[in-house]
Amino acid sequence: MTWGERLRLGLSGIRRSEIAGNPNKVKTAYILEYGRIEAYCSMRRKLIVPFTMFILLLAACTSASSPTLGPEMQPVTPQSSSVPTPPPTSQAIGCDRTLTPAQTEGPFYTPNSPERSTLVEAGMGGTQLLVTGKVIDQNCEPMAGVMLDFWQTDDQGEYDNVGYRMRGHQFTDENGQYALETILPSRYPGRTPHIHVKVFASDGQELLTTQIYFPGASEQIPDGIFRPDLLARELEPDTSGRRRVEFDFVLPD
Ligand SMILES: [Fe+2]
Repeated sequence: MTWGERLRLGLSGIRRSEIAGNPNKVKTAYILEYGRIEAYCSMRRKLIVPFTMFILLLAACTSASSPTLGPEMQPVTPQSSSVPTPPPTSQAIGCDRTLTPAQTEGPFYTPNSPERSTLVEAGMGGTQLLVTGKVIDQNCEPMAGVMLDFWQTDDQGEYDNVGYRMRGHQFTDENGQYALETILPSRYPGRTPHIHVKVFASDGQELLTTQIYFPGASEQIPDGIFRPDLLARELEPDTSGRRRVEFDFVLPD
């Protein structure tokens, strides 16, 4: 009997009552049952194949209908390593080209101060302070040999207008750097703590007059002259615990 015959027999159906006690009909019934099973499986195979093809066709259509990415959304193709990398600019390495603003010199400037890098004298009270920094031009080039003339109050808020206590000048080194050992100036009526400074070129030309302020002190007192962009940057204290701040001067070319 072929599978087609078994299938036809299975589909035609024979009542079980007709095969009771008849071995030939039992054998035939087994065959019929087998035919039904085969027919069922055949039907499933016939359904599965078209269904699978439908799914594959649907997937292909979906892929084909995907929108094309615009130029700005195309995947980035790695560029050739032969493209030169531009050198870091002065801005990128932390050089601030903003000119240091000028401020009034006030009534307490005395010219011809002594040349010295420390204003601290024996027995002087107050908070020990080290101010460091550099003088650069707007191209971030260091300005060597520039004279910085500092003056300030003592820890009681007093200027020495007779002598040169808390006054002194120095010159920048070949890297445009300077260092001033002093004490934290005290406030006086209407003014936050500050250090006055004048900057002179090597030929004596005055380049700038301004003031330096200190974090944590200057902002607390109403002061019409104070400018936050003239605040020094706080550094870690040195090994002796002395307070350290940094202030850079940026001058026109
Ligand atoms: Fe002052």
